[in-house]
Amino acid sequence: MTDSTKIRPGHLRGIVMRAPGITATRDFYLDNWGLALAHEEDGAVWLRGTGAEPFIYGLVEGPVFGIEYVHFAMPDRAAMEALHAQALAEGALVLGAPGPFHDYAGGWGFEILDPDDRRLRFRCEARELPVAEDWAKPRKVSHVVLNTPDMEALEDWYCRVLGFRVSDYSADQMVFLRCASDHHSIALVRGAYPSVNHVAFELPSLDEFMRSIGRMKQRGIVPTWGPGRHGPGNNPFAYFCSPTGFVIEFTSELQQIDEATHEAQVWPRDVPEAMDQWMTAGPPTSAQRAIMQGRPDPGWPELRNRGAQ
Ligand SMILES: [Fe+2]
Repeated sequence: MTDSTKIRPGHLRGIVMRAPGITATRDFYLDNWGLALAHEEDGAVWLRGTGAEPFIYGLVEGPVFGIEYVHFAMPDRAAMEALHAQALAEGALVLGAPGPFHDYAGGWGFEILDPDDRRLRFRCEARELPVAEDWAKPRKVSHVVLNTPDMEALEDWYCRVLGFRVSDYSADQMVFLRCASDHHSIALVRGAYPSVNHVAFELPSLDEFMRSIGRMKQRGIVPTWGPGRHGPGNNPFAYFCSPTGFVIEFTSELQQIDEATHEAQVWPRDVPEAMDQWMTAGPPTSAQRAIMQGRPDPGWPELRNRGAQ
């Protein structure tokens, strides 16, 4: 599946969620989750981490529980043009030619729809914020995990259209995809319908990961799954349920991939210590699996008629 000639996104900038009433949950992310307010406007809240990204998580009022867009960086306009050409050549539903964005984060780029009608935005020349180091606060969005009814087709699409590479599989239920050195920026889970499985936020160290769980606990909020350490990706995890009912994760120490030596493997699910290295978390409960399946996200089918340019 790996094709080293493919253009791929520079990194995952973050994600914008949409849901009814979601902007009213901003204080949960500011006071408990450890994000900071970057910008606010009518019907939208932009939250930053401690890094230079203009925002890593957006809250936008909308009629459904799902994704406004998944947000990727490209290093420059030349790479952006090359990715746009590659997406067109591979038959993706491209929503217009690269051009300026007139939103808070600014810059230049384009959008596409994936086969489940999820909107993906690619942006270069974005606003940059001064790095704001702060103990035990999320630095960035580590990864976004998506449920899909046709995992193989979506895996093929992300690799073919966007140059993602397969890092590992979890049995025949999940595939981990990278666009940079992080073991996964996107992962796909076999599900009954398209939806958000979870969004993970990276803490810079294991101590800050634990302290973040502690901050939540002091506010009376405990993980719905974890803490534990995953097998694939080797990352500590602690999952929580957001006030909107989305699953969010604290993580750290995600495996960094050496392109010269890494070989994808299929991790078995019937070896508990392979999936839960510390043996602290146990398997997810049926309630946890239900909130990770989430609510159906119709995506943006109404944008299809803007496609292929
Ligand atoms: Fe995760």
